[in-house]
Amino acid sequence: MKPKVIVYKKADTRILDYIADSCEIIYFEELDSEIYPVFLEELKNAHGLLGSGLKVDKELLNHAPQLKIVSNISVGYDNLDMAALTKRGIMATNTPDVLNDTVADTIMGLILSAARRIPELDQWVKSGQWKSGLEEKWFGVDVHHKVLGIIGMGGIGSAVAKRAHFGFDMEILYHNRSRNEDAEEKYGATYCTMEELLKKSDFVCLMTPLTPETVNLIGKKEFEFMKESAIFINASRGRTVDEEAMIQALQKGHIHGAGLDVFVQEPVSKDNPLLSMKNVVTLPHIGSATYETRLKMAMTAAENLVTGLQGEIPPNLIRK
Ligand code: DGY
Repeated sequence: MKPKVIVYKKADTRILDYIADSCEIIYFEELDSEIYPVFLEELKNAHGLLGSGLKVDKELLNHAPQLKIVSNISVGYDNLDMAALTKRGIMATNTPDVLNDTVADTIMGLILSAARRIPELDQWVKSGQWKSGLEEKWFGVDVHHKVLGIIGMGGIGSAVAKRAHFGFDMEILYHNRSRNEDAEEKYGATYCTMEELLKKSDFVCLMTPLTPETVNLIGKKEFEFMKESAIFINASRGRTVDEEAMIQALQKGHIHGAGLDVFVQEPVSKDNPLLSMKNVVTLPHIGSATYETRLKMAMTAAENLVTGLQGEIPPNLIRK
């Protein structure tokens, strides 16, 4: 009998066909409150779970006595209670590497947009306000030859460093749990303490995964270390930053601006003060969201799922 898997996210037919070769699929394009009880019922007999963002905790696992593998279509796995999964001997997998270049492109987009005020000027032009020459008040700041501080020099951090070094002649500083000699050699990245990085960087780019250790990693003290001209970029998770402290830092002019792909609450509330700040560029958590990369991520996740259900070690098993 084929193992039963639940796919709880809209998936391309190529992904579904691949999984269907060896598994029986229960497919939910999305999980809304109406469908959720049906999903829970199906979970009782499911051996695999594939999708992204679903909170997989003890409570959910109590509904899943047969579950063998949870395959996330994302590199981040802060939605998974790894201790609860490990205790029950359930494998968990993610999709690293395939998204590095795409997320790095998004980050460079945020850096350029915030520095050169691209969304703000776009609105200005489209609203018919460009009536004469450009006044100095619309000028931005340079990106090239500036100092870029990368917090979290993993695959995505390295892809950003590559772009910044070769494309923009930037000086790269980084802070990471361990040294990344490859980035040092290839992109001239210099390892430094968090404080040194924050004090010296023109652009501070946060790319750490969300873990209990990185919750509110950047707070009031860290914003105070930054230059008044600094632009802060967050493309990790909203909760790696104390959002209230960031709002204060922007309102009080402790930093110059920000480019944000992630928020504490997603979708972000329309009352969030960040949304009314001209010096803040916002995106709806689209770091990896291109057709090509999302397809690659889904296929990587499907391969992890199928391999795990065939009794082998999946290529991207999360080891804690
Ligand atoms: C990831 O892969 O973790 C992206 O942030 C999408 O959630």
